[in-house]
Amino acid sequence: MTQELLEVRNLRVEIPTRRGTLVALDDVSFSIAPGEVLGVVGESGAGKSLTGAAIIGLLEPPGRIAQGEILLNGERIDNLREEAMRRVRGRRIGAIFQDPLTSLNPLVSIGKQLIETIQTHLDMSRAAARERAIALLESTGIPAARERIDHYPHQFSGGMRQRVVIALALAADPEIIIADEPTTALDVSIQAQIIALLKKLGRERGMAVMLVTHDMGVIADCADRVAVMYAGRVVEIGPVKAVIHRPSHPYTVGLMGSIPSMKSDAKRLLQIDGAMPRLTAIPPGCAFHPRCASAFARCSKERPDLMTAPQTRAACWLIEEGTRASAPLAAVSD
Ligand SMILES: Nc1ncnc2c1ncn2[C@@H]1O[C@H](COP(=O)(O)OP(=O)(O)O)[C@@H](O)[C@H]1O
Ligand code: SF4
Ligand SMILES: [Mg+2]
Repeated sequence: MTQELLEVRNLRVEIPTRRGTLVALDDVSFSIAPGEVLGVVGESGAGKSLTGAAIIGLLEPPGRIAQGEILLNGERIDNLREEAMRRVRGRRIGAIFQDPLTSLNPLVSIGKQLIETIQTHLDMSRAAARERAIALLESTGIPAARERIDHYPHQFSGGMRQRVVIALALAADPEIIIADEPTTALDVSIQAQIIALLKKLGRERGMAVMLVTHDMGVIADCADRVAVMYAGRVVEIGPVKAVIHRPSHPYTVGLMGSIPSMKSDAKRLLQIDGAMPRLTAIPPGCAFHPRCASAFARCSKERPDLMTAPQTRAACWLIEEGTRASAPLAAVSD
């Protein structure tokens, strides 16, 4: 049996509110192998960030894990005490968020922040930690790292700051990086560089990466496997080529249609009509049914779980019916 590095099993996250308990993640399961890049995609509000937050133990209260397990190298980490989880978070799981400024203290030089993080997790002298900090900055492509290590965050551009955050996430040589929209706040020209960097570092260090993004182009470029989320559930998961070229879930078909560069015929831009439901109004049965052109009677009554599709696993009744998913309600524009 090969050991998965990260395993999320039947994760359910609830958010209690005055008007009742919202189910934000429902029965989410996936795994990531060592060295693998798992892309997690889906429209805004699908539950991507909550999934990442649950893994790193930073769900904002009152949000809580109500069911399921999260395992790192076969050991549960979802039930650790705060102190133990803090060690796991810095040492074994690195995190990168959308806005580099949330991860950096503006009042402290980047060198000091790196050295502190390194010394918190690794048994190293200050001098050795400083050398490691410089090496990390160099590995993330910061020019003249030795000279710039004592600079403050505001002295770096947005793209360079995100490189500093990546260096910080790598400080203790984690087994996995959770990157939540790491390039969304950056210029388009910088985005590709940062993604390429993450992929390269992952490969060189045998580090797994969970890359959350709403950008299918990014996924196509760098993920090994892809999980597609919709309304708090994984609706399709599989190897990146299969998910892009042979998706089985009508929602994935729609998402893929929305990346012009993926199509030989760049003019055929599919859009999925409608919006993702709010947590307070998740439709019964398949949550996608009000937007799905292939929906049939069963879809609004019974909720499909992931099942084996021709090239992926997908949660759609069409698979049981043996029909290939057709494009969802498609507004085909020129
Ligand atoms: N603290 C909270 N209270 C209420 N709803 C929340 C809270 N955090 C997240 N949500 C809701 O959970 C859903 C999933 O959010 P999120 O994981 O941030 O989505 P994504 O990252 O895919 O855009 C959204 O509908 C969001 O509004
Ligand atoms: S065919 Fe039915 S089960 Fe499949 S995505 Fe559409 S509504 Fe959901
Ligand atoms: Mg998010």
